[in-house]
Amino acid sequence: MAQQKTILRALAGETLPTPPIWMMRQAGRYLPEYRATRAQAGDFLSLCYNSELAAEVTLQPIRRYGFDASILFADILLLPQALGADLWFVTGEGPRLSTIDSQADFDKLLPVDAIHDTLNPIYETVRILRRELPTETTLIGFAGAPWTVATYMIAGRGTPDQGPAHALKDTNPALFDQVIDRLTEGTILYLSEQIKAGAEVVKLFDSWAGSLKGADFDKYSLDPIKKIIAALKAMHPETPIIAFPRGAGERYAGFAKATGADCVAFDDAVTAEWVAQNVQTDGCVQGNLQSSHMVTGGDDLVSETRRICQALSKGPHIFNLGHGITPDADPENVQLMIDTVRAG
Ligand code: CP3
Repeated sequence: MAQQKTILRALAGETLPTPPIWMMRQAGRYLPEYRATRAQAGDFLSLCYNSELAAEVTLQPIRRYGFDASILFADILLLPQALGADLWFVTGEGPRLSTIDSQADFDKLLPVDAIHDTLNPIYETVRILRRELPTETTLIGFAGAPWTVATYMIAGRGTPDQGPAHALKDTNPALFDQVIDRLTEGTILYLSEQIKAGAEVVKLFDSWAGSLKGADFDKYSLDPIKKIIAALKAMHPETPIIAFPRGAGERYAGFAKATGADCVAFDDAVTAEWVAQNVQTDGCVQGNLQSSHMVTGGDDLVSETRRICQALSKGPHIFNLGHGITPDADPENVQLMIDTVRAG
């Protein structure tokens, strides 16, 4: 039997002598080859829906650095678009969508089984990647978690405090629950199709989980993620699932057990030492290095990378950043991080 890929071994709970490594947003604007392909595609969304070019940018960081995993190039906002929301990106500002303020806005959305009409090119990207990736590289598919995607769908844009989504949740919970339920069902179908096309692992990004407090955290971050994982595990029991409830703080503890996730990804607001004691006891963990080290580099990058590896060396661990790499990062610092992790 072929040796299992390192990421899959870590996700199965194995403690490896050297943690496998990949990076959130590893295909992105800090790489000159990404900027060139994006210019060829036109805009960001055209790149996402061009299967050949999306596969090309997914492969670029694998060729340059030999990461242990690649993440499908797409975006969490493609699902709302496939559900009928308008979506566009304003250069230098970020995403814009049609908003959801009323039942009438919600009623304009499409039923979940319509999503594949729009998302077929994404599944094709996955199929190309499974053919073209090196045999040792794991392919990760992904989607946004319902709460995070809802914050963009309701506000029509990114917001610092997710105010419009909180307001709808508090003033019209019946409508808000319909949004969450539609996204939960759509996410199950979307990820299941990515797995059928060849994704070996899937990850749920709940980037704004940290703004949910108390019972809201359970109801709108934890519960939808748990539902999605249960449905995917019923259809694809072999596929590991990573959950990233960013900003969860002490709620990272117990999150894997409560949701059924095989791995919890964590940000840089908690320490790797705390995670080793309170989260890694339940299985694989991933994350933590501050993205700003990819800009500043030097001795601080090396010592922080070593500290995280050391703190998490007694259990299953995948090395990663605490959030996505930023466009101002220096590609040489990425190499320094990888060399430091692999030097042990
Ligand atoms: O990680 C990867 O390399 C895979 C691809 C990926 C992208 N977005 C590509 C992208 C993934 C996994 C995402 C997830 C995503 N998208 C999240 C969750 C993770 C997180 O960062 O918290 C969110 C909130 C989005 C929504 C989104 N997409 C925003 C707010 C923006 C604009 C901000 C920005 O960085 O420009 C995007 C655009 C986006 N998604 C880019 C990339 C490479 C930049 C687009 C460009 O080339 O101009």
